[in-house]
Amino acid sequence: MLVNGKRLLEDARDKGYAVGAFNVNNMEIVQAIIEAAEETQSPCILQASQGAIKYAGLDFLFALAKTAAEITTVPVAIHLDHGTDFDQIVQCIRAGFSSIMIDASKYPLEENIERTKRVVEIAKPINVTVEAELGKIGGTEDQIVVDERDATYTDPEEAKIFVEKTGVDSLAVAVGTAHGVYKGEPKLDFDRIEALSKAVSCPLVLHGSSGVPYDALKKAISLGISKVNIDTDLRLSFTDGLKDFLKENRDNFDPRKILGPARENMKKAVIEKMEVFGSVGKAWR
Ligand code: 13P
Repeated sequence: MLVNGKRLLEDARDKGYAVGAFNVNNMEIVQAIIEAAEETQSPCILQASQGAIKYAGLDFLFALAKTAAEITTVPVAIHLDHGTDFDQIVQCIRAGFSSIMIDASKYPLEENIERTKRVVEIAKPINVTVEAELGKIGGTEDQIVVDERDATYTDPEEAKIFVEKTGVDSLAVAVGTAHGVYKGEPKLDFDRIEALSKAVSCPLVLHGSSGVPYDALKKAISLGISKVNIDTDLRLSFTDGLKDFLKENRDNFDPRKILGPARENMKKAVIEKMEVFGSVGKAWR
């Protein structure tokens, strides 16, 4: 069931769990996530980055996600991850995305507010959810690279002003995570999450959540994170499944035989995340 992202996140915030937002690039990935959601009765978000859209094409990727959302009874939102281009955001809304992210976090506060507001103005009237980012989350997410030295944590006072001025539905915050594979163990700033959650009226989003210890994720959720983004761990589980199969079956050349185990391995990883996020059994009709 295709739903608006705002409704998903508000239900999560009210009940103290988080919705998993999983990055999709092809059919097997979409299927792995949706099968996991169906099996565990977890609401979920299928999200496409600009890189994924470049790889698969907007029409193909949206059609896959829409089919998945329509054949399952669990609530699913289709979301644009880290949209930086206004025209592409409009294209995604026209295609039928139920949620989009405008990432203008690289700009100074006032410009971030203006760019975000422009998107809220076109999305809100047609019931499309808007996520924005304040502070700078380090690491690499497809085409967006933020050097560790440029990463800055989100300030709660600024966040309050930002949410009031823009009217966004959810806010991605920089609290110690980074996109991609961690070199050491990430340290989350729990006090900051708590302060942010008190300061802003909308649900909070955690990016760069792959590789974060599960205890830390659970604590972040208990303090007010309502959407948890996962990409890298899914890639790892997919390619692990694929490599394991090829190690045992070097001469196999049937893509279905090769991609099937990758999909299965990813599905297991998604179920594990859903259990950690507390979204299992939270699907509503
Ligand atoms: P990871 O790749 O670290 O899981 O981050 C995903 C993400 O935040 C997508 O926006």
